[in-house]
Amino acid sequence: MPQFRLPENSRVQPGKSHAAPAGAKNVKTFRIYRFDPDSNQKPRVDTYELDMSSCGPMVLDALIKIKNEVDSTLTFRRSCREGICGSCAMNIDGVNTLACTKAISEIKGDAKIYPLPHLPVIKDLVPDLTNFYAQYASVKPWLQTRTPAPPDRERLQSKEDQEKIDRPSACILCACCSTSCPSYWWNSDRYLGPAALLAAYRWIIDTRDEATGERLDELEDPFRLYRCHTIMNCAQACPKDLNPAKAIAEIKKLIVERQH
Ligand code: SF4
Ligand code: SF4
Ligand code: FES
Repeated sequence: MPQFRLPENSRVQPGKSHAAPAGAKNVKTFRIYRFDPDSNQKPRVDTYELDMSSCGPMVLDALIKIKNEVDSTLTFRRSCREGICGSCAMNIDGVNTLACTKAISEIKGDAKIYPLPHLPVIKDLVPDLTNFYAQYASVKPWLQTRTPAPPDRERLQSKEDQEKIDRPSACILCACCSTSCPSYWWNSDRYLGPAALLAAYRWIIDTRDEATGERLDELEDPFRLYRCHTIMNCAQACPKDLNPAKAIAEIKKLIVERQH
């Protein structure tokens, strides 16, 4: 008989509850996924009631308040707290996004916070991005040239050509897109996923780059590129309003065009 239940160590248990301080009038409840693979315990969801009159407006403010004042064992990544480092990406209220730019006031009812989906969990809200970064590195996200650089200046580009790479260059590698992509969930070992493909596209269309043919050769593969079925979750998930799905479609078009 096939088994349809999650493995024993993936079944989330009810966790600990931390009540709001006595007298708190403006209370918001946060339900947060907790897991430590080094312990022999199953994942659980802990509940934290916070007094919002002494909490900043963003989800990251609430997480920092919990860590500083309630439960120092809560583990999460963050750095810039202004949407530019990508490290605080997590699943908030069912959507992959950045904790530092997600306003608590936008969340109706209890705030449910999980790590980015379909990645191994290192601890609590921290996913293992090793494969994600290796895929990014595999598209060689740097300028490749054959001709010698001009002796007296940088390799220049027209304003119009620069504008083409302007948006794709704004990716902060938060992984919200790839971890919202069903094709990536099932084939992340072989499909590069929207973030790495957006980076590939950024260098393919860079008019200063001289390895366009090799870059397209690398991607012309049933798994690395063609597992994208244009489901568009990636574009909806991107907190920087980028459109990896469109970039992937453009790469496919360039591959077709060079065959004619
Ligand atoms: S458009 Fe492609 S990359 Fe984006 S979510 Fe869909 S399958 Fe994934
Ligand atoms: S494309 Fe958007 S969602 Fe994807 S990694 Fe870059 S910034 Fe994050
Ligand atoms: S902390 Fe840097 S993007 Fe959120």
